Amino acid sequence: MLHWFKKEKVQSWLPPLTTDVHSHLLPGIDDGVKSFEEAEQVILRLQSLGFNRFITSPHVHELYRNSSEVILEKLAMLKEHLEKKNIGVSISTVAEYSLDEWLMQQVEAKVKFLAFSQNHLLFETNFFSEPLILNDFIFKATTLGYKPVLAHPERYMYLLNNRNRIEDLLSRGVLLQLNSMSLAGVYGPDVEKMARFLIDHKFIHMLGSDCHNLAHTQALQQAQKTKHYAKALELPLLNYSL
Ligand SMILES: [Fe+2]
Repeated sequence: MLHWFKKEKVQSWLPPLTTDVHSHLLPGIDDGVKSFEEAEQVILRLQSLGFNRFITSPHVHELYRNSSEVILEKLAMLKEHLEKKNIGVSISTVAEYSLDEWLMQQVEAKVKFLAFSQNHLLFETNFFSEPLILNDFIFKATTLGYKPVLAHPERYMYLLNNRNRIEDLLSRGVLLQLNSMSLAGVYGPDVEKMARFLIDHKFIHMLGSDCHNLAHTQALQQAQKTKHYAKALELPLLNYSL
Protein backbone atom coordinates (compact mmCIF):
# COMPACT_ATOMS: atom_id res chain seq x y z
CA MET A 1 0.00 0.00 0.00
CA LEU A 2 2.85 2.39 0.73
CA HIS A 3 3.57 3.03 -2.93
CA TRP A 4 0.02 4.36 -3.23
CA PHE A 5 0.63 6.90 -0.50
CA LYS A 6 3.75 8.17 -2.24
CA LYS A 7 2.09 8.27 -5.62
CA GLU A 8 -0.90 10.19 -4.31
CA LYS A 9 0.90 12.54 -1.94
CA VAL A 10 -0.26 16.09 -2.48
CA GLN A 11 -0.18 19.42 -0.73
CA SER A 12 -3.62 20.92 -0.35
CA TRP A 13 -4.10 24.69 -0.33
CA LEU A 14 -7.26 24.18 1.66
CA PRO A 15 -7.30 24.63 5.43
CA PRO A 16 -7.23 21.33 7.33
CA LEU A 17 -10.40 19.73 8.55
CA THR A 18 -10.70 20.61 12.23
CA THR A 19 -13.98 18.93 13.18
CA ASP A 20 -14.19 15.15 13.29
CA VAL A 21 -17.71 13.71 13.24
CA HIS A 22 -17.19 10.00 13.78
CA SER A 23 -15.05 8.28 16.41
CA HIS A 24 -15.14 5.93 19.37
CA LEU A 25 -13.48 7.95 22.12
CA LEU A 26 -15.69 7.30 25.14
CA PRO A 27 -13.87 4.64 27.16
CA GLY A 28 -15.22 1.19 27.81
CA ILE A 29 -18.66 1.43 26.21
CA ASP A 30 -17.90 -0.02 22.78
CA ASP A 31 -14.96 -1.41 20.78
CA GLY A 32 -13.16 1.95 20.82
CA VAL A 33 -10.73 3.23 23.44
CA LYS A 34 -10.56 1.24 26.66
CA SER A 35 -9.53 3.89 29.19
CA PHE A 36 -9.46 7.65 29.76
CA GLU A 37 -5.69 7.54 29.32
CA GLU A 38 -6.06 5.90 25.92
CA ALA A 39 -8.73 8.43 24.96
CA GLU A 40 -6.34 11.20 25.95
CA GLN A 41 -3.51 9.74 23.84
CA VAL A 42 -5.73 9.33 20.80
CA ILE A 43 -7.16 12.83 21.15
CA LEU A 44 -3.68 14.37 21.46
CA ARG A 45 -2.62 12.51 18.34
CA LEU A 46 -5.73 13.65 16.45
CA GLN A 47 -5.05 17.18 17.66
CA SER A 48 -1.57 16.96 16.13
CA LEU A 49 -3.28 16.02 12.85
CA GLY A 50 -5.25 19.27 12.90
CA PHE A 51 -8.45 18.37 14.77
CA ASN A 52 -9.67 20.48 17.67
CA ARG A 53 -13.34 19.58 17.75
CA PHE A 54 -14.69 16.07 18.18
CA ILE A 55 -18.25 14.88 17.85
CA THR A 56 -17.68 11.35 18.96
CA SER A 57 -20.10 8.53 18.11
CA PRO A 58 -20.15 5.40 20.28
CA HIS A 59 -21.86 2.32 18.90
CA VAL A 60 -25.41 1.50 19.79
CA HIS A 61 -26.06 -2.03 18.60
CA GLU A 62 -26.80 -5.49 19.93
CA LEU A 63 -23.35 -5.86 21.51
CA TYR A 64 -23.29 -2.38 23.01
CA ARG A 65 -26.81 -1.33 23.85
CA ASN A 66 -25.70 2.02 25.24
CA SER A 67 -28.42 4.33 26.49
CA SER A 68 -28.18 8.06 25.83
CA GLU A 69 -27.76 8.55 29.59
CA VAL A 70 -24.73 6.23 29.76
CA ILE A 71 -23.16 7.93 26.73
CA LEU A 72 -23.68 11.42 28.13
CA GLU A 73 -22.35 10.37 31.52
CA LYS A 74 -19.16 9.01 29.90
CA LEU A 75 -18.80 12.20 27.92
CA ALA A 76 -18.96 14.27 31.11
CA MET A 77 -16.28 12.05 32.67
CA LEU A 78 -14.01 12.36 29.63
CA LYS A 79 -14.43 16.13 29.59
CA GLU A 80 -13.44 16.26 33.24
CA HIS A 81 -10.38 14.12 32.52
CA LEU A 82 -9.30 16.34 29.62
CA GLU A 83 -9.83 19.50 31.63
CA LYS A 84 -7.67 18.15 34.45
CA LYS A 85 -4.94 17.49 31.89
CA ASN A 86 -5.35 20.97 30.36
CA ILE A 87 -6.17 19.54 26.95
CA GLY A 88 -8.08 22.25 25.14
CA VAL A 89 -10.35 20.52 22.68
CA SER A 90 -14.08 20.64 22.17
CA ILE A 91 -15.80 17.30 22.57
CA SER A 92 -19.46 16.36 22.31
CA THR A 93 -21.28 13.19 21.39
CA VAL A 94 -23.85 11.64 19.13
CA ALA A 95 -24.13 7.88 18.58
CA GLU A 96 -23.66 5.49 15.69
CA TYR A 97 -26.91 3.54 15.61
CA SER A 98 -26.94 0.15 13.98
CA LEU A 99 -30.00 -0.52 11.87
CA ASP A 100 -31.87 -3.48 13.37
CA GLU A 101 -35.30 -4.31 14.72
CA TRP A 102 -34.50 -2.63 18.03
CA LEU A 103 -33.70 0.63 16.25
CA MET A 104 -36.91 0.40 14.23
CA GLN A 105 -38.86 -0.06 17.46
CA GLN A 106 -37.15 3.02 18.90
CA VAL A 107 -38.07 5.03 15.80
CA GLU A 108 -41.64 3.80 15.94
CA ALA A 109 -41.80 4.73 19.65
CA LYS A 110 -40.48 8.18 18.69
CA VAL A 111 -37.59 7.91 21.11
CA LYS A 112 -35.23 10.87 21.07
CA PHE A 113 -31.84 9.97 19.58
CA LEU A 114 -28.43 11.47 20.14
CA ALA A 115 -28.13 13.39 16.87
CA PHE A 116 -25.97 16.11 15.38
CA SER A 117 -27.30 19.65 15.19
CA GLN A 118 -30.29 19.98 12.87
CA ASN A 119 -31.19 16.38 13.70
CA HIS A 120 -28.61 14.58 11.57
CA LEU A 121 -28.83 10.96 12.68
CA LEU A 122 -25.77 8.74 12.18
CA PHE A 123 -26.53 5.09 11.42
CA GLU A 124 -24.83 2.04 10.00
CA THR A 125 -26.03 -1.27 8.61
CA ASN A 126 -24.52 -4.73 8.39
CA PHE A 127 -21.72 -4.87 5.86
CA PHE A 128 -22.91 -7.68 3.63
CA SER A 129 -26.52 -7.60 2.62
CA GLU A 130 -28.89 -4.69 2.45
CA PRO A 131 -31.38 -4.72 5.35
CA LEU A 132 -34.94 -5.19 4.17
CA ILE A 133 -36.00 -2.42 6.54
CA LEU A 134 -33.62 0.20 5.14
CA ASN A 135 -36.15 2.21 3.10
CA ASP A 136 -38.72 1.95 5.87
CA PHE A 137 -36.20 3.23 8.42
CA ILE A 138 -35.22 6.16 6.19
CA PHE A 139 -38.87 7.08 5.70
CA LYS A 140 -39.82 6.82 9.36
CA ALA A 141 -36.73 8.62 10.66
CA THR A 142 -37.22 11.38 8.09
CA THR A 143 -40.89 11.69 9.02
CA LEU A 144 -39.80 12.24 12.63
CA GLY A 145 -37.64 15.13 11.49
CA TYR A 146 -34.27 13.36 11.39
CA LYS A 147 -31.81 13.54 8.51
CA PRO A 148 -30.36 10.04 8.25
CA VAL A 149 -26.59 9.97 7.74
CA LEU A 150 -25.23 6.64 6.53
CA ALA A 151 -21.82 5.98 8.11
CA HIS A 152 -19.05 4.76 5.79
CA PRO A 153 -21.12 3.95 2.67
CA GLU A 154 -17.93 2.83 0.92
CA ARG A 155 -17.68 -0.18 3.26
CA TYR A 156 -20.94 -1.96 2.45
CA MET A 157 -20.64 -4.81 0.00
CA TYR A 158 -24.19 -4.26 -1.19
CA LEU A 159 -23.33 -0.72 -2.25
CA LEU A 160 -20.03 -1.49 -3.98
CA ASN A 161 -20.38 -0.62 -7.67
CA ASN A 162 -24.06 0.06 -7.07
CA ARG A 163 -24.36 3.64 -8.19
CA ASN A 164 -28.11 3.32 -8.77
CA ARG A 165 -28.80 2.40 -5.16
CA ILE A 166 -26.51 5.15 -3.90
CA GLU A 167 -28.35 7.72 -6.00
CA ASP A 168 -31.63 6.26 -4.81
CA LEU A 169 -30.57 6.64 -1.17
CA LEU A 170 -29.53 10.23 -1.85
CA SER A 171 -32.90 10.92 -3.47
CA ARG A 172 -34.58 9.62 -0.29
CA GLY A 173 -32.73 12.26 1.72
CA VAL A 174 -29.89 10.12 3.06
CA LEU A 175 -26.59 11.91 3.63
CA LEU A 176 -23.28 10.05 3.33
CA GLN A 177 -20.34 10.11 5.77
CA LEU A 178 -17.09 8.76 4.38
CA ASN A 179 -14.37 7.29 6.59
CA SER A 180 -11.16 9.13 5.76
CA MET A 181 -9.17 5.99 6.61
CA SER A 182 -10.76 4.22 3.64
CA LEU A 183 -8.51 6.36 1.44
CA ALA A 184 -5.45 4.78 3.07
CA GLY A 185 -6.55 1.29 2.08
CA VAL A 186 -7.30 0.24 5.65
CA TYR A 187 -10.40 -1.71 4.62
CA GLY A 188 -8.94 -3.10 1.40
CA PRO A 189 -8.63 -1.99 -2.21
CA ASP A 190 -12.32 -2.27 -3.14
CA VAL A 191 -13.36 0.03 -0.32
CA GLU A 192 -10.53 2.43 -1.18
CA LYS A 193 -11.70 2.55 -4.78
CA MET A 194 -15.30 3.08 -3.72
CA ALA A 195 -14.24 5.92 -1.41
CA ARG A 196 -12.57 7.65 -4.34
CA PHE A 197 -15.61 7.08 -6.53
CA LEU A 198 -17.92 8.68 -3.94
CA ILE A 199 -15.65 11.71 -3.66
CA ASP A 200 -15.24 12.00 -7.44
CA HIS A 201 -19.02 12.09 -7.81
CA LYS A 202 -19.49 14.56 -4.95
CA PHE A 203 -21.75 12.11 -3.11
CA ILE A 204 -20.14 12.78 0.29
CA HIS A 205 -21.56 15.13 2.93
CA MET A 206 -19.30 14.47 5.91
CA LEU A 207 -15.80 13.14 6.52
CA GLY A 208 -15.14 11.15 9.67
CA SER A 209 -12.14 9.37 11.10
CA ASP A 210 -14.06 6.46 12.72
CA CYS A 211 -11.02 6.37 14.95
CA HIS A 212 -11.11 3.58 17.56
CA ASN A 213 -7.47 3.56 18.71
CA LEU A 214 -3.97 4.91 18.14
CA ALA A 215 -3.31 2.66 15.14
CA HIS A 216 -6.21 4.30 13.38
CA THR A 217 -4.62 7.73 13.82
CA GLN A 218 -1.65 6.51 11.78
CA ALA A 219 -3.94 5.41 8.99
CA LEU A 220 -5.71 8.74 9.16
CA GLN A 221 -2.41 10.53 8.79
CA GLN A 222 -1.73 8.50 5.64
CA ALA A 223 -5.21 9.27 4.32
CA GLN A 224 -4.66 12.99 4.83
CA LYS A 225 -1.79 12.83 2.36
CA THR A 226 -3.86 11.42 -0.48
CA LYS A 227 -5.13 13.34 -3.47
CA HIS A 228 -8.71 12.31 -2.74
CA TYR A 229 -8.60 13.58 0.83
CA ALA A 230 -7.69 16.99 -0.57
CA LYS A 231 -10.43 16.58 -3.15
CA ALA A 232 -12.96 15.74 -0.43
CA LEU A 233 -12.06 18.94 1.41
CA GLU A 234 -13.26 20.87 -1.62
CA LEU A 235 -16.80 19.51 -1.12
CA PRO A 236 -19.34 21.50 0.93
CA LEU A 237 -18.86 19.23 3.93
CA LEU A 238 -21.23 19.50 6.86
CA ASN A 239 -18.29 19.07 9.26
CA TYR A 240 -17.97 22.83 9.25
CA SER A 241 -21.56 23.56 10.23
CA LEU A 242 -22.55 20.77 12.64
FE1 LIG B 1 -17.84 3.84 13.83
